[in-house]
Amino acid sequence: MDDLYRDYILEHYRRPHNFGVLDDATASHEGANPLCGDRITLQLKVRDGMIAGVGFTGRGCAISQASASLLTDEVKGKPVIDAAKMNSQDVLDMLGIEISPARLKCALLSLETLQKALAPDAVASSRPAPAAAIPSDGTTSTEAA
Ligand code: FES
Repeated sequence: MDDLYRDYILEHYRRPHNFGVLDDATASHEGANPLCGDRITLQLKVRDGMIAGVGFTGRGCAISQASASLLTDEVKGKPVIDAAKMNSQDVLDMLGIEISPARLKCALLSLETLQKALAPDAVASSRPAPAAAIPSDGTTSTEAA
């Protein structure tokens, strides 16, 4: 392990936060880095549009595991719609070190996996509220009575 890695990255690698299987997950996705074959399975418990729980398992290099640990900390308790908007720069900022192009796949494996796990809930959260309560003539139920 070279000294480019900051201590906190090694700490997240050695003792990753949110590592483990969620018994009551509502969404899950397994992502892989095709360059090395490393895999991460990310599980989410979504309740009322919020990420109430998150866990991950898998194997990978220090960068991929630290980024999964940091990302899962970040999204826990967030609205699904906000977590779904997280992008590559957010993850690179969390890691806080220079990531070479060759290591970008490692750094972003957890984000790609999160986005796929969140996709169905993100679509549901972004739908407008049902309009059935408003009659097509624009009156409210009080006006119509
Ligand atoms: Fe496999 Fe980094 S070397 S994810």
